[in-house]
Amino acid sequence: MKRIEIAKLVEMEEFGRQVVVMGWVRTIRISKNVAFIALNDGSCLRNAQIVADLERFEPTLFSRIHSGASLAVTGKLVESLGTQQKNEIQAEKIEILGEANPDYYPMQPKKHSLEFLRENAHLRFRTNLFGAISRVRHNMIFAIHKYFNDRGFYNVHSPIITASDCEGAGEMFHVTTLDLNKVPKTPEGKIDWSQDFFGRETNLTVSGQLEAELAALALSKVYTFGPTFRAENSNTSRHLAEFWMIEPEVAFADIHDNMDLAEDMLKYLVQYALDHCAEDIEFLEQRLINEENAKPANERSPMLLREKLRFVLENKFERISYTEAIEILKNSPEQKKNKFSYPIKEWGADLQSEHERYLVEKHFKKPVILTDYPKEIKAFYMKQNPDGKTVAAMDVLFPQIGEIIGGSQREENYDKLLSRIQELGMSTETLWWYLDTRRFGTVVHSGFGLGFERLMLFITGMGNIRDVIPFPRTPKNAEF
Ligand code: 4AD
Ligand code: MG
Repeated sequence: MKRIEIAKLVEMEEFGRQVVVMGWVRTIRISKNVAFIALNDGSCLRNAQIVADLERFEPTLFSRIHSGASLAVTGKLVESLGTQQKNEIQAEKIEILGEANPDYYPMQPKKHSLEFLRENAHLRFRTNLFGAISRVRHNMIFAIHKYFNDRGFYNVHSPIITASDCEGAGEMFHVTTLDLNKVPKTPEGKIDWSQDFFGRETNLTVSGQLEAELAALALSKVYTFGPTFRAENSNTSRHLAEFWMIEPEVAFADIHDNMDLAEDMLKYLVQYALDHCAEDIEFLEQRLINEENAKPANERSPMLLREKLRFVLENKFERISYTEAIEILKNSPEQKKNKFSYPIKEWGADLQSEHERYLVEKHFKKPVILTDYPKEIKAFYMKQNPDGKTVAAMDVLFPQIGEIIGGSQREENYDKLLSRIQELGMSTETLWWYLDTRRFGTVVHSGFGLGFERLMLFITGMGNIRDVIPFPRTPKNAEF
């Protein structure tokens, strides 16, 4: 007989039918005459309820079944008398596929700290929490592809190994096959990359944007969705060294079109999560409520998870310039009472997440899109504004997260782009192909990058980015 997935089983009403389920034991409770087993196979949050009359089975069987063990259960589907579920299985045959010795199995049927679960990331998929997060993550990946596909965008694979530094921040991981104990040197004493695998210095990509631009300047509407790597030494709850980024790039579109796309896409994804992940989101919301209740009353978040998600759907994002934001921040009570860790000194300062969150959570009380940043704090490729000081950048700021999207209109003018590259002391040789697109058939175009795990933080209400990716890569941590 074929196994029935538990997501299907829990909805079934064909009482009397024979079924086979397979999964991992969440809990087992043995009373005088019966054993109750909750079995989960990850297909949904809910468990199959298995009831086994002890006298039908070999007496030693149940002493070998503990939380974490894998079972195949055959039995009859019967109506459940409990209100929690529609049905249960009256077990006729129970096969232990793999035991889990409770003396050694780390995942006990009790609440574990997130810290502990990170150290046991190989097994944390088996908790309700990480099951829920994994399913939401999958649904969001699917929704992103659907969103773009339905709107005529083409997905483009940008390279993972590259010789360029898109963001110019120098936060790259080298890719090399050189023997690090015997690194070949040039006569000047520098590393001789010409002897390396690619005959040049290469690194893992920090962004697929530059290649996405090449594609957009032929296919009009494209997007990438790939892993990106940043060797920034920031041990925060919002930074990973390896994260996934969605980067749409659109020809014949300016910064206003770009903002419209970003807002529409984010709203679509939030709505998709509410529509398709209802059970898991309800579970995640309950987790948050429990967490909030453990805090002192004045530190509790005023909004529940679904309320927060709906809040994004219902509000038009506030669009203001960096210059206006600086004025608001300078005049804020936080600044005056010296509450910012980094007080705003002057126009030109880079914004920290505390500033971004102030604007979103306290001042506007809705998502904010900040535009027209000083060119000094943004990347070389951004469209230079006529004022000579700012560029057509746009960052989307979200409650709790701060920056969730970074993007811009691109500089499509060859001379301006070239002079900016030179001004910044960047190599025009490694970017000849990028410059070429401005020499041949250049057009106005724009794009942005959505940090996938930042989106996941928002949708799940989790507080640490290490908990929304299966195997986080952070400074001094590459286990699993
Ligand atoms: O603002 P960023 O650096 O922009 C770019 O990389 C552009 N090339 C995107 C584009 O225009 N095509 O990064 C984009 C987003 C950020 O807004 C943030 O959500 C996320 O990527 N991000 C990170 N997420 C997790 N860990 C990190 N270390 C991140 N750095 C950026
Ligand atoms: Mg950014």
